[in-house]
Amino acid sequence: MKKLIIINGPNLNLLGKREPKIYGSLSFTEFLDKVKAKYTNVKIDYFQSNIEGELIDKLHEVGFNYDGVILNAAAYTHTSVGIGDAVKAIETPVIEVHISNTYSREEFRHQSYISANAKGVILGFGLQSYELAIQSFL
Ligand code: DQA
Repeated sequence: MKKLIIINGPNLNLLGKREPKIYGSLSFTEFLDKVKAKYTNVKIDYFQSNIEGELIDKLHEVGFNYDGVILNAAAYTHTSVGIGDAVKAIETPVIEVHISNTYSREEFRHQSYISANAKGVILGFGLQSYELAIQSFL
């Protein structure tokens, strides 16, 4: 069975409550339960942290023994050379995802330190962005 992990960065623990016009009103755990029930042929782990170093530690931990990482580094996407370097350092392919279309938002969201080393980027499809990434790994 394939082993995937979804890694979510800062403020994504507030999904469902946070700016619902942009990010929707479903909590991530509600969404994850649905996705896990739908994709029973794959192991889907989940990790969320608001702390940059914890995200880097998790990438190191899974980066040599998982089949895929689905990473929404949230605001750190636009600022973190460290997370970008971690994505480059590991062997497991990483798909960068975003809920919103970051290119239709403020200019500081157009920059990503992750994209250059990601296998691909999926953004703008709401929570479905994560599901499209899962399907791509399958
Ligand atoms: C986000 C987009 C980022 O610009 C923002 O900082 C987030 C969420 C998204 O999924 O749309 O926190 O990564």
